[in-house]
Amino acid sequence: MVKNNNVFHRRLDKELPLAVKAEGVWIEDEKGKRYLDGSGGAIVVNVGHGRKEIAEAVHNQILKCYYAHPTMFTNQPVEELANGLAKHAPKGIDRFYFLSGGGEAIEAAIKMARQIHLEYGRAERFRLIARWKSYHGLSLGALSAMGRTLFREPFAPLLIDVTHIYPPYCLRCSYGLKYPDCGIQCAKALEETILNLGPETVSAFLAETVSGATLAAYPPPKEYWPIIREICDKYKVLLIHDEVMCGLGRTGRWFASEHYNVSPDIVVMGKGLGGGVIPLSAVGVKSEYYDAIKNGKRKMFIHGGTYSHHAVAAAAGITVMKILEKEALVERVDHYGKIIGKTLHERLDEIPYVGDIRGIGFMWGVEIVKDKKTLSPFPRKEKVIEKISDHLFKQGVLLYKSTGLAGIDGDGIMVGPPFIIKKDEIDIIANALYKAIMETLVDHP
Ligand SMILES: Cc1ncc(COP(=O)(O)O)c(C=O)c1O
Repeated sequence: MVKNNNVFHRRLDKELPLAVKAEGVWIEDEKGKRYLDGSGGAIVVNVGHGRKEIAEAVHNQILKCYYAHPTMFTNQPVEELANGLAKHAPKGIDRFYFLSGGGEAIEAAIKMARQIHLEYGRAERFRLIARWKSYHGLSLGALSAMGRTLFREPFAPLLIDVTHIYPPYCLRCSYGLKYPDCGIQCAKALEETILNLGPETVSAFLAETVSGATLAAYPPPKEYWPIIREICDKYKVLLIHDEVMCGLGRTGRWFASEHYNVSPDIVVMGKGLGGGVIPLSAVGVKSEYYDAIKNGKRKMFIHGGTYSHHAVAAAAGITVMKILEKEALVERVDHYGKIIGKTLHERLDEIPYVGDIRGIGFMWGVEIVKDKKTLSPFPRKEKVIEKISDHLFKQGVLLYKSTGLAGIDGDGIMVGPPFIIKKDEIDIIANALYKAIMETLVDHP
């Protein structure tokens, strides 16, 4: 192994093994230990590891032309990917601006909303409303919108002003209400917030269509998005869906908004768009807003980036999309997602520290609590989910941690495997998680 001296690693508390190869849902390290990638990394490797057709597409595009500046040229993969996305995107969304990371695309979407208002002569609209317990990325703009306290706290003085409302998290309703008697107060709160800020100043509402990392996969109730859509329309507030995690088939639909029959004005995607092969993200927008920018005062979106609209990344993206279509993987997620849920319930429901199991498609969350009846969490300082996750890692199973589900406390873990996972591999995940929770909390509390 090359000596580990110069990399500033993501983890500083332990030596990381060297990953040397990966295929399907498995990753292998240099010592030959195999890991079942039960979360596709950061819920990103949607079509599985080691796809030769993606490697070939990327290779061929590199040989053809890997860089031609996006203000001087367009390229075939970007054109093809945008056409493909238009077929699957939420109704009305048919223009796509390509970038690299999810957080980067979130920032572009926030700016795009602002510029749309400018082009319509609504210069006073600049305010952004987002949600607590959300995840939108870690660069300063995305972090300002994001509502995960522990990530925000060290950098709070640097953040821009974003107004946060409570999320649709019925398990721990911030209003202390119970669904469905609650009247979906968390959605209606958007109207009150817009009125408090002054409707003429509000640019956009940004939220994950289905909450991912911060709430360990929590789909909102069916009424939530239609109410939000209506409020946004009433006050000319643009609705931005963050589908960086839940988009591109992850919930058993091409976009999670399909479950709610609601279309956003802007949709942000990332992760599964490039399938973990190459950084690739996109901001999709309705053509009327694209036209407003194109025909407006500035004649272009005042944005950019050296790696925007990148041909090689788009070549990976279009191949990922073709795989999803050819192998009917979105339909597979819809079907197999129910099997994942059933397996997790069967194996874990009885554990006294499992407070909740929820999810949709291939986005599942298991919430770990100190007391199953009251749902009171373990204090963050006990690092319960880190211990469970380390136990899983030793067993050779990789899942995705969530923290801060209850104030700064609260522990959850996400199961979000590649879309090709088989039933026996789902069983391996459920059994390993059972063992990790039992041995961490029950046998050695
Ligand atoms: C919903 C959501 N939005 C945005 C992001 C940020 O994406 P990236 O890490 O590519 O910047 C993430 C990453 O986990 C995410 O889950």
